[in-house]
Amino acid sequence: MTHSIRFKFILFILAILLVLILLLNLYPVASSRGTMFQEKRSSLTSQASAVSSALAGPERLTEEEVSRIIGALDLDNFDRITVLDADGSTIYDDGEGRFAPEDLQTALRGETAFQTALTGTDFISSVAVPIAAREGLRGAVALYENDRDLARLLLTVRERIAILSLMIGALVLLLAMTFSWLVLRRLNDLTRSMSIVAGGDYAYRHEVTGSDEISELAQEFNTLTEKLEANEAQRRRFVSDASHELKTPLASIRLLSDSILQTEDMDPGTVREFVTDIRTESDRLERTTEKLLVLSRMDDDIQAVPEPVDLKQVALDTLSALAPLARDRRVSLASHLDDGCVVMASREDMERIVFNLVENAVKYNVPNGSVTVRLSQDESAVHLSVEDTGIGIPEEDRLNIFTRFYRVDKARSRQSGGSGLGLSIVHDAVTAYGGSIRVGNNRPQGSVFIVSFPRPTSEETGI
Ligand SMILES: Nc1ncnc2c1ncn2[C@@H]1O[C@H](COP(=O)(O)OP(=O)(O)OP(=O)(O)O)[C@@H](O)[C@H]1O
Ligand SMILES: [Mg+2]
Repeated sequence: MTHSIRFKFILFILAILLVLILLLNLYPVASSRGTMFQEKRSSLTSQASAVSSALAGPERLTEEEVSRIIGALDLDNFDRITVLDADGSTIYDDGEGRFAPEDLQTALRGETAFQTALTGTDFISSVAVPIAAREGLRGAVALYENDRDLARLLLTVRERIAILSLMIGALVLLLAMTFSWLVLRRLNDLTRSMSIVAGGDYAYRHEVTGSDEISELAQEFNTLTEKLEANEAQRRRFVSDASHELKTPLASIRLLSDSILQTEDMDPGTVREFVTDIRTESDRLERTTEKLLVLSRMDDDIQAVPEPVDLKQVALDTLSALAPLARDRRVSLASHLDDGCVVMASREDMERIVFNLVENAVKYNVPNGSVTVRLSQDESAVHLSVEDTGIGIPEEDRLNIFTRFYRVDKARSRQSGGSGLGLSIVHDAVTAYGGSIRVGNNRPQGSVFIVSFPRPTSEETGI
């Protein structure tokens, strides 16, 4: 893959270079050629006209007369000069060069003919003009010139441009190759780091240099790896916590059943007591595994289709479901519930949230304590608060209580059958619906949990 990017890049640069070099080599010569031809034409034609009017002067044109006149004129730059009489017979012809016969014919008809050509080392121009005397057309004069100096100059310029453009081309190509090598080397390094991380070494970090797009990419990759590492650590902790949580009740069950099996003639009262304990432990196992299942379902983002849920109804149902537990603990339940507090959610999730919060408020309360559930809403949000007058949560534990398996007082919580999963379920469910949860102090004692959900629009609820 890397080779193919380099290949494409170099190919691209080569194509641009080719176009540039061609333009550089062809355009200046092509554009100056036109002007040079034009200039040649006017200078040659005016010189030819001067010769022609000089030859129109004498009575008669003889070879000596023509030689004399031409000798008097300064015509050294011409390679061939030819003078014809009106019939087309040569009167004077000196030098070398080739005239096109049709040009001479044109001049004998009274018109001017001009030709020019640039071929390698030769820049050939020829002109033929009529000689018009007072009595009429007397003949024609033709001049032939090969401007080798100018041709050589042009050739040199062309060569220099060619050499220069080749040098520039080579330099650009070299720079492009170095650049692509540098860029691709960094990409290769990044790819190597990626395979290291993909191989399972989540602690590995790519060394970021510079501050360009590749560095940004590397930075993003490092951030991703960090998240991966954190996730992996969380997953491991979760698995080890979960196994530990399951191991403890299983060990008790085993111990209890071993005792029953190994003790002969155990009195029925003790057997019953042990079996009751086994029952309690298996209840705990069941509750824990149920909660684990709920959490794993939430992790998988399997969400029921949201429907409008009236939180007042959910709160009332929860309060009556928990009334026996509250009575047991001698905790009184109170509520202040506004009507019309509706959120878009699954009813089951809302029940889970309210139930866990109120259950905690009752469980971690004191005899003769109270629990108050409040429900209200403003323009943007629906607020649910659960206050208790219980044991409260120490400041330093508040950050952790939403973590899976976290319990402030392990002994007390376990004794009350807690697995430390309730609040993490609440937290995950609340955030899944775009809500937030806070915990604070209740005065003079106890805790208060405040949950806020975004208030749905009437279009969403259809009410
Ligand atoms: N209202 C509260 N007052 C005092 N402490 C609380 C309150 N709610 C929760 N806690 C503390 O936070 C811990 C975590 O609560 P969470 O509901 O997650 O677990 P749990 O109640 O122990 O077990 P589970 O809810 O899974 O049966 C509890 O063990 C408890 O120590
Ligand atoms: Mg709980």
